[in-house]
Amino acid sequence: MVSTKVLLVAVVVVCVLVETLSAQRSQPNPNRRNRGRNRAGNRTRTAGNRNAGNRNRNASNRNAGNRRRCEEIEVPMCKGLVGYTHTKLPNRFNHTTQLQVYRVLEHLWAMIDRGCSQNFRLLACSLYLPRCAGRGAARGPCRKTCKVTRRVCQASLQQFGYTWPEEFDCNALPKKRCLKQGRHNSCSMDHTQCVDIDLPMCTDLSFRIGMSPNMFGQCNRTEIAMEMEQFRPLVESQCSPKLGLFLCGVYMPWCASREGGLTFPCQEVCSEVREACEPTYRRLTRGLPWPNKLQCHRYPASSNANYTCVMEDDVGAINLP
Ligand SMILES: *[C@@H]1O[C@H](CO)[C@@H](O)[C@H](O)[C@H]1NC(C)=O
Ligand SMILES: *[C@@H]1O[C@H](CO)[C@@H](O)[C@H](O)[C@H]1NC(C)=O
Ligand SMILES: *[C@@H]1O[C@H](CO)[C@@H](O)[C@H](O)[C@H]1NC(C)=O
Ligand SMILES: *[C@@H]1O[C@H](CO)[C@@H](O)[C@H](O)[C@H]1NC(C)=O
Ligand SMILES: *[C@@H]1O[C@H](CO)[C@@H](O)[C@H](O)[C@H]1NC(C)=O
Repeated sequence: MVSTKVLLVAVVVVCVLVETLSAQRSQPNPNRRNRGRNRAGNRTRTAGNRNAGNRNRNASNRNAGNRRRCEEIEVPMCKGLVGYTHTKLPNRFNHTTQLQVYRVLEHLWAMIDRGCSQNFRLLACSLYLPRCAGRGAARGPCRKTCKVTRRVCQASLQQFGYTWPEEFDCNALPKKRCLKQGRHNSCSMDHTQCVDIDLPMCTDLSFRIGMSPNMFGQCNRTEIAMEMEQFRPLVESQCSPKLGLFLCGVYMPWCASREGGLTFPCQEVCSEVREACEPTYRRLTRGLPWPNKLQCHRYPASSNANYTCVMEDDVGAINLP
């Protein structure tokens, strides 16, 4: 059974947090529009995008000169989640670094989580981070992968106010030497509930019940666990004793009981963890910024009376409103 309270709190929280994740995407942002134009091949240089010309020159230098090698995927919405581990850049949009790719996919992250699970993720990731295939050209998504995904996902994306990204132009994609879609799976937002936490990285905590779907709309716990795995090296670096607590609360906000009382890690915990771990994260990912999902403005401060948040792994200390 799902109590109305959990449902209401969850829906509010999901709205607030998902909206902030996608805010940059949906707001009219001149930089972003410029970037889109460049991606479409328009090389107009504008104040907001001074580097575009350099980036293209870099890319063409590299194309003309030495062949690029395969590199391990570090971009957090793709790493460990798409069935292959290495990519080769530049991609079809002439991005030469994973940082450039991250900046684009960051805006699509909420859509990737919300979309149609693996196929939408595969489409987005393989478009920007094509699978390295040895010496040959890297492999992006097949035309059919794109079309099938669009057919299944478009309506559900529209329901959440997203439009199919114009860069996902199915007809521009190849029919051969490309990546095929997998089985369709998805989860519904209608069934917010408190369920047992069975995430391998969260077994040491005293929190045992968590919200599903989480605040990003993810409810396939296999996939949540796969996404969390990318942070294991960071946890093992012991950059912060609270990193595990924080990550578990991010990926499965805690329910104090099956009946209700939703709690999050406090913003203070987030700030402490970020300060301690960001340099290590950058090093481990060869230069990526602290991921959007882990940014601290998303989590309630302990002074915020609207939410209950957690400072320590100490369930007994939670005072539910
Ligand atoms: C990428 O670079 C190549 C070679 O410099 C160029 O022909 C192509 O139009 C560029 N594509 C985009 C999308 O900018
Ligand atoms: C670039 O975009 C501008 C305005 O959006 C347009 O006027 C111009 O013709 C475009 N240039 C190319 C090469 O497509
Ligand atoms: C690429 O362009 C940037 C400027 O945006 C420059 O600082 C950098 O040295 C260039 N890299 C290469 C390999 O040409
Ligand atoms: C959950 O995700 C895994 C990994 O992608 C997939 O194999 C499985 O079918 C998904 N489960 C459901 C119920 O969609
Ligand atoms: C708490 O919720 C109320 C009503 O929704 C809102 O006006 C207020 O700004 C919120 N307080 C904080 C600290 O977010």
